[in-house]
Amino acid sequence: MSHAPIIDQDEFARRRAALAEAIGHDSVAIFAPTPERRRSHDTFYAYRASSDVLYLTGFAEPEAVVVIAPGHPDGDLHMFVRERDPLKEQWDGRRVGAEGARALHGADVAYTLDELDEVLPKLVDGRRDLHYTFGQDDAFDKRILALNTTLRHRRNLPPGAPASISDARDALHELRLIKSDAELVVMRHAAEITSEAHVLAMRACSPGTHEYELQALIEYHFRRRGADFPAYSSIVGAGDNATILHYIENTDAIQDGDVVLIDAGCEYQGYAADITRSFPANGSFTSPQRDLYQAVLEVQLAAIEDVTVGRPFQELHLRTERRLAEACVQLGLLSGDLDELVESKAHKKYYPHGVGHWLGMDVHDVGPYYAPNGERRALAPGMVLTIEPGLYVPAHDDSAPQALRGVGVRIEDDILVTADGPENLTASCPKSIARIEELVASSISLP
Ligand code: GLY
Ligand code: MN
Ligand code: MN
Repeated sequence: MSHAPIIDQDEFARRRAALAEAIGHDSVAIFAPTPERRRSHDTFYAYRASSDVLYLTGFAEPEAVVVIAPGHPDGDLHMFVRERDPLKEQWDGRRVGAEGARALHGADVAYTLDELDEVLPKLVDGRRDLHYTFGQDDAFDKRILALNTTLRHRRNLPPGAPASISDARDALHELRLIKSDAELVVMRHAAEITSEAHVLAMRACSPGTHEYELQALIEYHFRRRGADFPAYSSIVGAGDNATILHYIENTDAIQDGDVVLIDAGCEYQGYAADITRSFPANGSFTSPQRDLYQAVLEVQLAAIEDVTVGRPFQELHLRTERRLAEACVQLGLLSGDLDELVESKAHKKYYPHGVGHWLGMDVHDVGPYYAPNGERRALAPGMVLTIEPGLYVPAHDDSAPQALRGVGVRIEDDILVTADGPENLTASCPKSIARIEELVASSISLP
């Protein structure tokens, strides 16, 4: 990490204690590592540890297995990590080993990975409920099943296999859903870096600039400000490309008259920001583009105001769908009775996604949208979500007004739920028409 970590060891310990409390003393939770992924031949994607492992320990090396065994006589946190190996470290980077896991990451007991198959059954032995998430790594799943079989069928001893296996995500993701003060410090920082990057891209854009040049500028800014990665593949789409929701090729030259849509966010110290801005490539919207942009902006501002304690997330979706359907009618994209249009989901042609998602260590962060009883989950202080309405009119849509074809607009901010109402963490990223036109016009040249 480029900067001193903001989340300290006390916070990691508090998180583990909260998990231990949630699962109880007769349970054990095992968190398997995200496997390393080959990109091509003998090169690998940059490694990003599982958010669950990072949340509990801050331990970022590959292969680490984290076990929380509440009430264990040696302590709750047991870790299995790669062993120190001077030759491997010379080639592939530093390892802290078991000693480092104890000294630096709060492990009560730490082992090297070669000890896993021998020690793990002992940690599970006699616990009623095993918390583990199947379906993420076949090889690790097999180890868990083998361990369970061993504990169930051993001779001369009472069966020590758990009576039930629960999904380890349930308890942990409930905790991850509510952000602590320290997490919000990190998220505000990710938001600030991301906001600055969007402003730079607006200022650097002019007709003829390539989408990938703006991507490079944004990601350069992330990195030079100490962010570790883009939190997701940056989307820089001009003109019709902006109507493709997950357009990540970013290959084309931006044309005069295009609206440019940029959806990019950094990951800073493990936490994501997620901002979308849409702006005119030449510094001035055409009148129809302006109408479309202003309509989306008004819907977005209204949706942010909807982010209040007690309201279910689903209601934000429904209210936004209705407002955007109404905008579609006003813009000449749809015609007919508003109730019928909403009922038949006619707006999906131009607004095919939802209003937003939880945000945190993952861009589409974890945490249930439903309560355990199946009811829709109400917003509560400390939750962070995106609000990102958009309208996308493909160039080939013969039914749309000519001047709107090939225009996509999305406006996305990151919103903290507080008892006093919504707090926009990305408020520093301009979005009024006057301000974004001014920024695009105040051009800076790309280095
Ligand atoms: N950047 C992904 C999203 O907005 O959901
Ligand atoms: Mn988003
Ligand atoms: Mn986004």
